[in-house]
Amino acid sequence: MAQRVLLIVSGGIAAYKALELVRLLRGRDIAVRAVMTEAAKQFVTPLSLGVLTEDHVYGALFDLKDEREIGHIQLSRDADLVVVAPASADILAKMAAGIADDLATTLLLATDKPVLAVPAMNVRMWHHKATQRNLAQLREDGIHVMEPAIGAMACNEWGKGRLPEPVDILAEIERLLAEGPGAAEPHPLLTDTTRTINAPDLSEHNLFGRHVLVTAGPTHEPIDPVRYIANRSSGRQGFAIAAAAARAGARVTLVAGPVTLPTPPGVTRVDVETAREMAVAVEQALPADVAIMVAAVADWRATDEAAQKLKKDGSGKPAPLALTENPDILAALGQHPQRPALLIGFAAETESVIDHARAKRTRKGADWIVANDVSGAVMGGDSNAVHLVTADGAESWPDMPKTAVAARLIERIADALAGH
Ligand code: CTP
Repeated sequence: MAQRVLLIVSGGIAAYKALELVRLLRGRDIAVRAVMTEAAKQFVTPLSLGVLTEDHVYGALFDLKDEREIGHIQLSRDADLVVVAPASADILAKMAAGIADDLATTLLLATDKPVLAVPAMNVRMWHHKATQRNLAQLREDGIHVMEPAIGAMACNEWGKGRLPEPVDILAEIERLLAEGPGAAEPHPLLTDTTRTINAPDLSEHNLFGRHVLVTAGPTHEPIDPVRYIANRSSGRQGFAIAAAAARAGARVTLVAGPVTLPTPPGVTRVDVETAREMAVAVEQALPADVAIMVAAVADWRATDEAAQKLKKDGSGKPAPLALTENPDILAALGQHPQRPALLIGFAAETESVIDHARAKRTRKGADWIVANDVSGAVMGGDSNAVHLVTADGAESWPDMPKTAVAARLIERIADALAGH
């Protein structure tokens, strides 16, 4: 059964980000039922929340219709997790004091489920002794409290108090849901506010409303029940690109070969094993605005997959292994009636990197090729020195972490789609 979140939206300029959070949760098949405080309704409408949750949005405690259909005790216990986002200084104070003067605070007092509070407020309100006292009390009471992010505020001040990015809230929600009722304190990574400061600012280069399709990892081509053809791709570069696209607001489909990486927040992942499965998954994910084919697809597969384990016969003859070429997924997309507006391939080369990448761009019908020299330790490593080959020429980027390559590529994609 799908997991359920009861989302309490309190007042504040960050309330609009609750809409994005709901969209991300729904994308992960998590059901959301929303409750709004009166103040929240000044910032977002119950209608928009209702459209996204596909459910009634609850508001007043004494709404008899709601009480007849579903009592507030029931509402507070129907969920696997209660999330207060954004949590204003006011609602945090009420929670700490046990005040129940509207539906939201009554639910919070009546619930027996884990509660995650995601504060957002002005920097001075955040640092005020009263707020800090209330937060200490809430943590002692077992409420999970996420640290706000640091940055510019709507009120022109700068500091701590911004609502964390919806993808980070999603990650924390998924962590708490996975851990169940006895969930521990928030993950240190998520409370490390320096991460938000250092994160690439993708706000100018957003991909809202776009569908980005990414392939990543190797493929495994079975030879017999115990053997397969594979390569050294770790999937890290593709996963970093999918994560950066989601952070930039895109809807992201990540078709992943066999890798051991966690799914980035906000990304829909389709796991495949072989090149042919990858080709089908890519086809099914269309239409997409952008496709970034990062996977190191095996060029060949065994012509016949043996039903039983192949046995050596001791004769010293070559192995009985015939190979057939796999479909080229990138080249097929280049010819496809639903070809994405921007089609990007990767090229792993060990010599004449840019020349080979240029030829590959034309041959496969791609718009851009990101070429990397894999003669070093790129495969499986953390950094990558790439060349971006487009119709206008080639541009060499310095050696940088794969996450930075991803952020820069996503910026360039957003600019290209925006017509810059
Ligand atoms: N690719 C693909 N399907 C394949 C093989 C490759 O979609 N069956 C994609 C990769 O995801 C990558 C690009 O094509 O984006 C380059 O792959 P590469 O293996 O370097 O290209 P090849 O055509 O195999 O060229 P070469 O033989 O020069 O390595």
